[in-house]
Amino acid sequence: MSRANWGSKLGFILAAAGSAVGLGAIWKFPYIAGKNGGGAFLIAYLVCVFTLGVGMLLAEMLIGRAARKSATTAYRELKNKAWAWAGRLSVLCVFIILSYYSVVGGWTIAYILRSISGEAITADTAALKSAFGTFIADPLDAILYCAAFFGITMAIVLGGVQAGIERMSKILMPALFFLMLVLIARALTLPGAMEGVAYFLTPDWSKVDATMLLDAMGLAIFSLSIGGGMIIAYGSYLSPDTKLVGATVWVSVLATLACLLAGLMVLPAVFAFDVDPAAGPGLTFITMPAIFAKMPFGQLFAVAFFCLLLFAALTSSVSILEPIVAFLMDEFGWERKPAAIAITLGAFVLSIPAALSFGVLEKTLIFGKTPFDLMDYIASNVLMPAGGLLAAIFVGWAIWPRVRQELQAEGAAAVLPALRIVCGFIAPLVLGYIWIHGL
Ligand code: ALA
Repeated sequence: MSRANWGSKLGFILAAAGSAVGLGAIWKFPYIAGKNGGGAFLIAYLVCVFTLGVGMLLAEMLIGRAARKSATTAYRELKNKAWAWAGRLSVLCVFIILSYYSVVGGWTIAYILRSISGEAITADTAALKSAFGTFIADPLDAILYCAAFFGITMAIVLGGVQAGIERMSKILMPALFFLMLVLIARALTLPGAMEGVAYFLTPDWSKVDATMLLDAMGLAIFSLSIGGGMIIAYGSYLSPDTKLVGATVWVSVLATLACLLAGLMVLPAVFAFDVDPAAGPGLTFITMPAIFAKMPFGQLFAVAFFCLLLFAALTSSVSILEPIVAFLMDEFGWERKPAAIAITLGAFVLSIPAALSFGVLEKTLIFGKTPFDLMDYIASNVLMPAGGLLAAIFVGWAIWPRVRQELQAEGAAAVLPALRIVCGFIAPLVLGYIWIHGL
């Protein structure tokens, strides 16, 4: 079977940026920045992305393009059998992420419907908090919406690389940025909004500490889709003559722009309506509807906001499913259709305990965590840093002569010293530290 290809470089950039821009940028970033004092966190995040992040993205793209295979097969073919375990680890990582990510993806679908019906829009934050709590605790709702999100993700992946993933990215990514700009225009014209802008853009250096730096690095890895073989799989559909360095810079810029815009969309509104910016994960589902309730045409903006969240989640969830499908195709010769269906069903089964973690399984703790938190912890704190660490060592040491050859061939020899420093030294140290700390 000949390997699928992206239809154009733009299609690849939008798909890879879509993988990066997801719940990490739109849901997590504003509340983590809010918790960590705004501006200083933004700078720490940017530094992480434009040092280690860019290098790691390039490294993963390069592994995929060099082998034209997804992670496990790529590691084996570029080096040896032992390295294939790094690929298998990344498959486990994305399988777990897919399972709990789809739970939150399901919430976004529910909140679109609740915004359309008007049910989710009231200025009473106590009522919103309890409505959100009741909704996520309802076992049937939690599982059904999660299943719907899985269904859409699977349908896109079944369409294949060009007709499914690339086509969806070309529609949803511009739509996502457009909706963000509309919502920012609304947020910035609210009375009192500038206080939020100042909070977000003025660094408060007293907030810089080890926890904040770890948060910034962790979010940079998560929000760039590093360590789960996602970018390796997407890179494997690139033709050998695609220039990787430019693509890497584009993806990083779009991903950070999305975080910046998400902050500018959420934080001014939060200040305008006097809400605590450190409200935590509920900031999106509890605080934003209260803000919409107080705005003219709020219902319309609420629907737009939750659609935007769904689009961001979908362009990422397909990139989380694709490497597992590609693994079955590359390693075991499966066809795309049975692979996508089997993985979706498997991940859906694992998502059930995650979906029930806010209700019936709320008190079922494993290592002190609910199933949802445990999956997020294992994936984000253990497997992603480990996957990133292995990819860095692979590129910086194991296949360095090949890397040199690949980048020289595309006329990008100038980036070699920087890539060597990032992948060979900085990433192993930093990711190794995060990994040990995460354990
Ligand atoms: N990069 C994806 C996100 O941020 C996983 O949601």
